[in-house]
Amino acid sequence: MRNVPFGRPIIGAEEKAAVAEVLEGHILVHGPRAKQFEADFATFTGSPYAVSVSSCTAALHLSYFYLGTGPGDEVIVPAQTHNATAHAVELTGAKPVFVDAELRTGNMDLDQLEAAITPNTKAISLVHYLGLPVDMPKLMTIANKHNLFVVEDCALAIGGYVDGKHVGLFGDVGAYSFYPVKHMTTAEGGMLTTKHEDIATKITRQRAFGVDRHVGERKVPGVYDVNMLGFNYRLNEIASAIGIEQVKRMPGFLTARKANYEALQAGLQDIAEIDLFESSTDRIQSSYYCLSVVLKDDIAPLRFEIVNYLKAHGVGTSVYYPKAVPKLTYYREKYGYQESDYPNATRISEQSIALPVGPHLDQDDMAYIVATLKDALIEVTK
Ligand SMILES: Cc1ncc(COP(=O)(O)O)c(C=O)c1O
Repeated sequence: MRNVPFGRPIIGAEEKAAVAEVLEGHILVHGPRAKQFEADFATFTGSPYAVSVSSCTAALHLSYFYLGTGPGDEVIVPAQTHNATAHAVELTGAKPVFVDAELRTGNMDLDQLEAAITPNTKAISLVHYLGLPVDMPKLMTIANKHNLFVVEDCALAIGGYVDGKHVGLFGDVGAYSFYPVKHMTTAEGGMLTTKHEDIATKITRQRAFGVDRHVGERKVPGVYDVNMLGFNYRLNEIASAIGIEQVKRMPGFLTARKANYEALQAGLQDIAEIDLFESSTDRIQSSYYCLSVVLKDDIAPLRFEIVNYLKAHGVGTSVYYPKAVPKLTYYREKYGYQESDYPNATRISEQSIALPVGPHLDQDDMAYIVATLKDALIEVTK
């Protein structure tokens, strides 16, 4: 039986040698690799500044911490995203105000965005869902009209572009994830990009306790001051060394993802029981995180039977995301959302199956996924 896992990090001899080199030295934190990784990631995305952090969640949390949101403030959050996008807001005491998804792409429905803005709104966050960028010029027109800070959650979107510009560079900050199944990995890790020097400078301090100079910057050992609050959200040298090698692989990773996605999309075209999201256009270039199929209403109750059939035949799947964030117990109970709220995000959560297109797979794997999904649909409706 073929084995087609949903995600599998590609760690080669280069990453292993880079890690060994770090371990043979004595600098595990505050070293040259984190700086190099930041410079390489900034170059790859075309971002003026990049700050390495311990996760995408840390990058998001630091963004609101920098902004100073707190009780009484509101931040717009897509209903269809990972809970981290909303948790980062909650952690500062501010309230996430959810906006439903559009069924066409799964991205936040920009036509519903303005109605969610109130005098208490301080920021808009968005996620480039499954790697397909939000129409950022359209979003920025609304954000600028209301003078709002914009946080782009790019956890699924490294290598996504709008009008030739990398995601994360339209808003005030971009937050990226290097979790193992993402476009590239450092085991755990993240990056924050920004075009504002003051944000980069302050967040660099806030990710490391708020000290005014880190170990390498101290002229006299042990002499430093703390002039702001901060966390320990640094990325260590081992992770950074892996990241440096992974960035080099990104062009190849993206080429493989695009080819896999296009093959899978072509193969799924004629399956009557499913709907497919729209993908890249002339202006909007996806980073092809995965390909989610949305089951039509009559077949949707059989979703987990289909998933189990795929699993039994070696095809790994996932769900992005298992529930619309406002329907997760924490948010539902805290803010009292109703069953009928956020119908589009709910539909996507309840009816979709995410299929893999990562660079660990090839065209034969895509053909196998198509054939196995077709078999699954026959089998579960027998
Ligand atoms: C959209 C989105 N944002 C944030 C995160 C959290 O990323 P991390 O695990 O790096 O904190 C994820 C994780 O999957 C995600 O999908």
